[in-house]
Amino acid sequence: VDASGVRRFELALRRGQTEFLPGRPVDTWGINGTYLGPTLRARRGDRVAFAVANRVGDPTTLHWHGMRLPAVMDGGPHQVIAPDSIWSPEWTIDQRAATCWYHPHPHEQTARHVYRGLAGLFLLDDPDAPELPRQYGVDDIPVIIQDKRFDQRGAMIESFDGTFGLTGDTVLVNGTLGPFLDITTTRVRFRLLNASNARIYGVGFADRRTFQVIATDSGLLPAPVDADRVVLSPGERLEIVAEFTPGEQVLLRSTGDTSDGANAIERGDFDLVSLNAEPRLRQVPPVPAVLSTEPPIHPAPNARVRRFVLTGFEINHRPMDLTRIDEVVPAGAQEIWEIDNTTYTHNFHIHDAAFRVLQVNGAEPEAYLRGPKDTVYVPKLAKVRLAVRFGTHTDPRTPYMYHCHILRHEDQGMMGQFVVV
Ligand code: C2O
Ligand code: CU
Ligand code: CU
Repeated sequence: VDASGVRRFELALRRGQTEFLPGRPVDTWGINGTYLGPTLRARRGDRVAFAVANRVGDPTTLHWHGMRLPAVMDGGPHQVIAPDSIWSPEWTIDQRAATCWYHPHPHEQTARHVYRGLAGLFLLDDPDAPELPRQYGVDDIPVIIQDKRFDQRGAMIESFDGTFGLTGDTVLVNGTLGPFLDITTTRVRFRLLNASNARIYGVGFADRRTFQVIATDSGLLPAPVDADRVVLSPGERLEIVAEFTPGEQVLLRSTGDTSDGANAIERGDFDLVSLNAEPRLRQVPPVPAVLSTEPPIHPAPNARVRRFVLTGFEINHRPMDLTRIDEVVPAGAQEIWEIDNTTYTHNFHIHDAAFRVLQVNGAEPEAYLRGPKDTVYVPKLAKVRLAVRFGTHTDPRTPYMYHCHILRHEDQGMMGQFVVV
């Protein structure tokens, strides 16, 4: 934090080598390091300023996924950072506590840039939030889930073609193969992020213990929700709190969808993190019964309804066009967005907005989907109805994006642009 109270961050996107498999360094990209980037943290009300240096040799961008900010700071496909140049966005954090993240968003190249390792967490704290575990790396643990495919020499396979692009057979957590964690407290908060290109994970514990879901993409739920498995599609975040007893060992893992209709990206079981509780655990207080008193997103009965039909790689039968504005939304509007998936698995992400899922196929969704979100899983042939609240930063010329966050689809043009006026 500098003398004028601005919180400054320096990020360098660069090339390097990482040893995922012992003794086999492979080419990767990273932010300030060789793979992934630092976890950034700021508080509501902070002014944040960045110097983002692009040293990867290719043009790219850096998008702040989940952040409410002016469109010119969003880091979407219009805010290109040329090789060897520096981009300096700055804005004031004006939203509740949340687990956001950052990743490149270059037109038609996002899959490659994220897969090579450009991604990181951006945690937002809020002085008004209730007391929750927040000691990073101790009782507040990041879990960034990504799948990879390695060739015989251990190099990462990069082939992003096909229906879903790359689907890996190896899952890394925080860039680590087979990670473990020593549990030192009676309760631990895990911040789950699906930063994979396409895979969908069903996260829970091997012993199927119940845990509490406390937050979704855009922040805290009104109250904790009990669950024993939570599903994350690419781009989604969930915060959970689990309880541990001294000396126990348990596995955090992902189990796939075993139904007949499941696509390749929804199948498969993966170990995520081995957890070993120490013989003595420090007491962490229980999760409060009320987490957020923010009024729910609640569009008026006559609110504008917009419909989005998903086909193979298109939204409303048109591929992405950087020169076309698809939707114009009034600042701060609350609207109903209906996503009608006429084909295989997709998801749907809206920049600079928060939504709550009203319905999936006409029925109430799981309780944890009613929290504030910015990305939603849209299974094969599903219809999803969202109550969306838009941001208040206006700019008639610079659009925000909405798109499928399966990166192959995004790169193929499954994206649209909207301006807030
Ligand atoms: Cu996480 Cu438009 O992206
Ligand atoms: Cu985003
Ligand atoms: Cu898709």
